[in-house]
Amino acid sequence: MCGIIGYIGAKPAKQEILQSLQLLEYRGYDSAGLCCFENDKLKLIKKKGKVSTLITACENEFVTAHCGIGHTRWATHGDPSDKNAHPHLSENNNVAIVHNGIIENFESLKGNLQKNGTRFRSETDSEVIAQLLQKSKCESELKKVQELSTLLKGSYAIAILFKELSNQIFAIKKNSPLILGKANDGLYLSSDVNALIGKTSEYYIMQENDIIWIDNQDVYLFDSNLRAKDIEYQPLTLTTQDISRGTFEHYMHKEIMQVPQAIELTMTEFEPMQNPLTRIPAELIKSAEHFSIIGCGTAYNAGNTISYYARQRDIFVDCYYASEYRYEKFLSRKNEVCIFISQSGETADTIEALKKAKEHNIPTIVVTNVASSTLNKLADYILPTKAGPEIAVASTKAYSAQITALYAFIDYVYCIKNGINCRSCILKDKLKDICDKLKSYDLSIIDNIANQLKNIERVFFIGRGVDFATSQEASLKLKEISNIHSEALYAGELKHGTLALIDENTVVIVIATQKELLEKTINSVYEIKARGAKVIMLTQFEVSIDAVDILVSLPQTDQLLMAEVSIYPLQMLAYKTALYKGLDPDKPRNLAKSVTVE
Ligand code: G6P
Repeated sequence: MCGIIGYIGAKPAKQEILQSLQLLEYRGYDSAGLCCFENDKLKLIKKKGKVSTLITACENEFVTAHCGIGHTRWATHGDPSDKNAHPHLSENNNVAIVHNGIIENFESLKGNLQKNGTRFRSETDSEVIAQLLQKSKCESELKKVQELSTLLKGSYAIAILFKELSNQIFAIKKNSPLILGKANDGLYLSSDVNALIGKTSEYYIMQENDIIWIDNQDVYLFDSNLRAKDIEYQPLTLTTQDISRGTFEHYMHKEIMQVPQAIELTMTEFEPMQNPLTRIPAELIKSAEHFSIIGCGTAYNAGNTISYYARQRDIFVDCYYASEYRYEKFLSRKNEVCIFISQSGETADTIEALKKAKEHNIPTIVVTNVASSTLNKLADYILPTKAGPEIAVASTKAYSAQITALYAFIDYVYCIKNGINCRSCILKDKLKDICDKLKSYDLSIIDNIANQLKNIERVFFIGRGVDFATSQEASLKLKEISNIHSEALYAGELKHGTLALIDENTVVIVIATQKELLEKTINSVYEIKARGAKVIMLTQFEVSIDAVDILVSLPQTDQLLMAEVSIYPLQMLAYKTALYKGLDPDKPRNLAKSVTVE
């Protein structure tokens, strides 16, 4: 949550910072701000609302600035408002900071400062950082920054300007990401490498407790004891094309259309020459008695989806929400392997869950979409997804890529456990067939359904087996971007309570892709229709059921892989419904893409 940016160089700082803030907006968009050195003073503008509001407010400002810091916020402490927006200034206006993370001991720090007369302007936890820096008795600014790590508890990526040190930026990080980007004519700090695409050719991912000091074009890196470190840059290969909306009105639309490509590219990763699975020792898989999959939101749903596929192969997988897993009591189970799924690789709950698993010496595998992410650094083994940058808050192509990687993983486990030579080409061919069918799939019927959903109060998604897992993901998509109350249920569970909510203001979306469960699911359809709800059914089978109001035909493919197919029109349904409701599908209310707070 929250995106921070810093820039120093030959280009106008305002332009560089505002452009990057727009690319970081997926991390939060309730307020934004900018502080630059101008005529040796710290000049600050911050506004409630999206970055576009800040851009308007800055129109004729910061004309001569070449060094500054910016922030886009997702509120944790204090409501979205001008005063709670970052950057925050110290009481004497001599220090400016931007912060991503949570300062867990801010109340006691603030209390002490207030006792000594410091006046605060905001309700945020972050302001305490600027005030502490102002009050510090350390002899140099670098030491003041270092001292922060002894005072602050929690997570933080912080960029700092001191009025006395014109055109210099300091930064420090712990448990929140921060990247240093190097260009020919400038240096950048950013919460995410995506915001540096097209600007820098090289980047360095700051390590825990690193301190950075940028003095014009010179940059120095220190560890927490202020010992100098070498900066090991890596090349930035992504292009502006990868992060542009192209001809699409929204990122979400572009990303749904990229689903087939995400599946194909991810599958290519598992080709024999480079197969990341072969780096996981066969002995580890052979001896594994329990597989746990852990993630949040869509990533959790991907794990749940794959657990059905695994069961078909006699592999039993437990799925956990990352925020719950770390408090489980049985963490010391013998022969456990944990698989963590995360598009960003930066979700705080998932990172903490992985750390917990490591404390218990449990081997860890991550499925992530961002090679430079924190989870990749922490895990024992990496299964990369190749969805490409996903920018819309609601995850779509990353989900499809995650289940692709996990199909490959489960097949690998199955083969090792049964002494079979693993031939990923069979899976690859099947997925190729799915991709071809998705590419030519006519989604026009979805538009009509979305138009009907826009005035509906409640939507239920139901299914049995893996179709329930798809229902969970479809329901999450719809609720997060269209603000319609929606819920996923096992089809058989409706009659045990939720049927009480079914009436003519309800739409029930039935997913039925598993032949052996079809008849029973159709029973539920009649029960729903008898209570007056509208029924929409998605299936690849040729059925004619008079209780179904709209039948959505799915492309026919291997039944075990149907989850890859059935979610596709439902992602589009969520997108179109948000459009019909006049909502911005890329930036849903109250949410952020990368949730870096626990
Ligand atoms: C947030 C996003 C979801 C995402 C979840 C997990 O809640 O809004 O779209 O699925 O985080 O994110 P991750 O990056 O770990 O997959």
